[in-house]
Amino acid sequence: MDAKGQTAIVTGAAQGLGAATARALAEAGAKVGIIDLKAEPLEVLAVEIGASAAPCDVSEAGAMEAAIAKLREANGPARIAVACAGIAVGELIVNREGEPSPLEGFSRTLAVNLGGTYNLIRLAASDMVGLSPLADGERGVIVTTTSIAAFEGQMGQSAYPASKGGVAALTLPAARELARHGIRVNCIAPGLFETGMLRGLPDKVQDSLLDMTVFPKRVGQPEEYAALVRHLIGNAIINGETIRLDGAIRLGMK
Ligand SMILES: NC(=O)c1ccc[n+]([C@@H]2O[C@H](COP(=O)([O-])OP(=O)(O)OC[C@H]3O[C@@H](n4cnc5c(N)ncnc54)[C@H](O)[C@@H]3O)[C@@H](O)[C@H]2O)c1
Repeated sequence: MDAKGQTAIVTGAAQGLGAATARALAEAGAKVGIIDLKAEPLEVLAVEIGASAAPCDVSEAGAMEAAIAKLREANGPARIAVACAGIAVGELIVNREGEPSPLEGFSRTLAVNLGGTYNLIRLAASDMVGLSPLADGERGVIVTTTSIAAFEGQMGQSAYPASKGGVAALTLPAARELARHGIRVNCIAPGLFETGMLRGLPDKVQDSLLDMTVFPKRVGQPEEYAALVRHLIGNAIINGETIRLDGAIRLGMK
């Protein structure tokens, strides 16, 4: 599908990979709706790229229903939906004193990363079902974001890889179910990208991660992620797939 003239929704768009994707889609001529918890930077980006903003928590059913309804009213139902909202919380399962970690961090990470992705898929797909088919019978395209941590989770990071494993595992059943409506579902597994999430890690951890990257030996730029989203939107034969975008990095134990 050509993004030009189509309506798109991007979550996690206040910064990082989501913001770069919203910019790229606006540049490609799409009508863009953006969602994030952080209302202020979201509004700034909306003004900058001519998008509509709907601040909300992607893990909440009612708030997302209202946000999607607001964007539908502004731009029409979306044919393109990209899930970038996510959080990374590091926590040992059992701490050095042998005490169990509180359940809250794990539950919240699953609710945002996996639940928030499912929340976008269910609402966006429901709107796409009612649209007229384009070439190849295509009604919509959904792109989600897992992480290479889904496949090589490091110690002290159980919640994040568990949530991202769920996002990757959701890709094929979603693509299979939604195929009869002409909706494709693909997933991107980024390695290290230069965003607030990566900058939030201690320098020592960032250096050790960079060390594991094979080639090119640098972090990815959000624009390189956005370029893959655009390719997935445009290339109709790619469906039900999770694509690593990672300079051949394979994460070690820690
Ligand atoms: N940066 C990396 O190296 C990297 C690597 C692998 C995967 N990822 C994944 O890519 C996605 C984007 O990450 P990023 O690097 O741009 O991170 P980021 O922290 O820069 O951006 C994430 C955005 O999600 C928003 N968000 C968080 N919780 C939310 C919620 N409950 N509701 C709505 N918005 C919420 C944040 O406010 C933020 O704007 C995430 O899913 C992340 O797990 C990033």
